[in-house]
Amino acid sequence: MNAVIDPDLLPFAQPNFQADPYPYYQVVRDLTPVYASPAGVQVVVRHADVFRLLRDPRLSARQLDFGVASIFHDSMMGQDSPDHARLRKISASWFSPARVAEWSVVMTGLVDEALDEAARQGGMNVPDDLSFPATFGTMAYILGVGTHEAQTCRQATLDIGRALRPAATDDDVAGAHNAFAWYVSYIQELIDHKRRNPGDGMLDAFIAAEAAGAMSSAEVMATTTLFYAVGHLDNSFMIHNGIRLLIERPELARAFAEDSETRMSVVAEILRIDTPEQFVTRYVTEDIEVDSVVLPAGEVALLMLGSGNRDELEFPEPDTFFGDRPNVQKMHLAFGGGQHGCAGQVLARAQGDIAIARFFQRFPHARLSSEVEFANTEFIRGIRSMPVSV
Ligand code: HEM
Repeated sequence: MNAVIDPDLLPFAQPNFQADPYPYYQVVRDLTPVYASPAGVQVVVRHADVFRLLRDPRLSARQLDFGVASIFHDSMMGQDSPDHARLRKISASWFSPARVAEWSVVMTGLVDEALDEAARQGGMNVPDDLSFPATFGTMAYILGVGTHEAQTCRQATLDIGRALRPAATDDDVAGAHNAFAWYVSYIQELIDHKRRNPGDGMLDAFIAAEAAGAMSSAEVMATTTLFYAVGHLDNSFMIHNGIRLLIERPELARAFAEDSETRMSVVAEILRIDTPEQFVTRYVTEDIEVDSVVLPAGEVALLMLGSGNRDELEFPEPDTFFGDRPNVQKMHLAFGGGQHGCAGQVLARAQGDIAIARFFQRFPHARLSSEVEFANTEFIRGIRSMPVSV
């Protein structure tokens, strides 16, 4: 019998929880490996269990009811083997280390443009002026499309994210419905344009795969929507939150700027200490024993990346940000794991390295010029506004 505990130990809808869920996770981790939430989901909270279950084929993405996001079933994210592998392979070569080296040149150009402007202005709002334009511009370049409708894409992605969480309201679901409808018509326009004006971007590769019978038109649509959505969201948060954390720790900021050796470990720690996507969701196809508790078949499981990343059994002093935490690169959960482990992680890490290093190389004395405005939900961590003076 799983622990059913009153009062609710993970009150997803409460502002306090959304602002800082980590103390709540700790209470649950100390009590039980699997928490039967009153929100109707089974919540897996300990690092070792999350790590293992991410790789367990008895948990299915295909059989999950994606609700308003059902279009994503036609992307790799909503499939199990073997369709998952087929779809993932089509985009995998676009994120090899060699291709990421090409995209890094694009990212560097966009970052430098933003920093030049900040130097002229004496400051910037990091999410609007640096993280979003640099990551979105890089993703558009990879797809082989322009950056028209950038702000609409940004808002549509946020609207989708708001619906994919336990505390989503009817308004959130309606917002996501509109966002998907907008994405579908926008991407259809891009595809029509591409058919008339072919290029050599990833979207051209999807259209070619469709012509060769390797992808359906629904899969092209869903996969393109997915890349639009994931190409700028979590990586933006990594960048602005990383800058925020390092502004508070000048010695680490200096090391980050000057010593490229330390950067990957610090980027991993940035992702661990405040994990952009707090959980992944799966359908449980058969009873699974998790440390003597049963994760029951037929239920929806949330594998809490954010909680696992603060588990002291894996990461001693888990609430402290260390510049040299051993094992963090290998063991942090921010990119998920197993077959659905983040397909863009090589790019994301390079983007964190480039944006944060160049920021502190250029502006070693940068300071926050007013309060950071957060936009956290229980699913996606966000920063709405973070003005800095440089
Ligand atoms: C710091 C930035 C990022 C974080 C923290 C992140 C996190 C994640 C997580 C947790 C998953 C697993 C979802 C699941 O298991 O259901 C995922 C999947 C995915 N990510 Fe990322 N991501 C980041 C950046 C990116 C970027 C920049 C791209 C593309 C350019 C990308 C593309 C994808 C794709 C395509 C999947 C689906 C993989 C599959 O189902 O096989 N991500 N990401």
